[in-house]
Amino acid sequence: MGFMCAKPHAKLYMLLSASLLLCYGVGNTYCSTVHENSGDLHSLLDFKRGIISDPNGALSSWNTSTHYCRWRGVICIRKGPWRVSGLNLTSQSIVGEITSSLANLTLLSTFDLSSNLLVGYIPPLNGHQQLDTIYLNDNLLEGTIPDALTNYSNLRKLDLSRNHLSGAIPPKIGSLSNLEIFVISRNNLTGSIPEELWRLPNMVDLKLNQNRLIGKIPQSINMSRLQVLGVAFNNLGKALPSLGSSF
Ligand SMILES: *[C@@H]1O[C@H](CO)[C@@H](O)[C@H](O)[C@H]1NC(C)=O
Ligand SMILES: *[C@@H]1O[C@H](CO)[C@@H](O)[C@H](O)[C@H]1NC(C)=O
Ligand SMILES: *[C@@H]1O[C@H](CO)[C@@H](O)[C@H](O)[C@H]1NC(C)=O
Ligand SMILES: *[C@@H]1O[C@H](CO)[C@@H](O)[C@H](O)[C@H]1NC(C)=O
Ligand SMILES: *[C@@H]1O[C@H](CO)[C@@H](O)[C@H](O)[C@H]1NC(C)=O
Ligand SMILES: *[C@@H]1O[C@H](CO)[C@@H](O)[C@H](O)[C@H]1NC(C)=O
Repeated sequence: MGFMCAKPHAKLYMLLSASLLLCYGVGNTYCSTVHENSGDLHSLLDFKRGIISDPNGALSSWNTSTHYCRWRGVICIRKGPWRVSGLNLTSQSIVGEITSSLANLTLLSTFDLSSNLLVGYIPPLNGHQQLDTIYLNDNLLEGTIPDALTNYSNLRKLDLSRNHLSGAIPPKIGSLSNLEIFVISRNNLTGSIPEELWRLPNMVDLKLNQNRLIGKIPQSINMSRLQVLGVAFNNLGKALPSLGSSF
């Protein structure tokens, strides 16, 4: 295929095989060549193949006649070619599995697939340094909290609540020193709460309630920014810590 776009001053931009044209504004008054990244494109298409039901047509714009940066829920940044920096398909009633090809979105920073009907496991991601927010809460995900998550060293917000996750909280979670939101309530998690978790300096919202966790909450918690602590409905020791948070 090939098409061209003319600016008022008759400047032409060819559509090359590895690039696409994005035209903004009424009457294509501003056009620019936008290269796409084939790794990002194929990860997204593969993700779409993993979705077996999409009653709201959330992914109907996801076809190759449109640049992926214009697909619903896809957020891009310019890094030479426009790259995927976010995926937000919250509350779309999509059903299916999250394919592991999302690991190929190497600049992913925000990942929000919360409140859908996603099954299977939490996939490995690859944004590593970039990953800031992961919201997978309110789905039907099973398996464990992947150890790989603890490699996303700049992660600030992680919500995995209301799924069917089992197994233990990875102890290395304590290395995520930027973590502000860690919400894993209403799963089926077992084992003891890693001590390191209580030492995360930036924690604001920590909810572990309604799991099958064991152990004790420390008598004093040194989390100066903590606003919400949820620990109820586990098998924890009765002693409550001395701090003025809301429970
Ligand atoms: C993801 O990247 C790997 C390695 O580059 C490649 O083998 C694989 O086919 C890619 N998957 C998708 C769905 O793009
Ligand atoms: C492709 O997506 C565009 C919107 O981005 C939509 O208008 C068009 O109908 C879609 N085409 C197909 C074949 O689904
Ligand atoms: C995702 O989009 C919804 C609105 O569509 C917004 O409320 C929510 O904050 C977004 N998620 C993230 C992580 O930015
Ligand atoms: C974490 O990152 C290190 C270094 O990049 C890598 O060797 C290791 O395999 C990663 N761990 C997981 C669980 O992905
Ligand atoms: C929790 O785990 C138990 C035992 O493995 C299982 O029987 C139960 O169905 C699980 N509950 C949820 C909500 O996943
Ligand atoms: C609490 O944490 C801060 C910052 O990490 C540290 O400077 C302080 O010494 C700690 N206080 C106690 C009582 O552990």
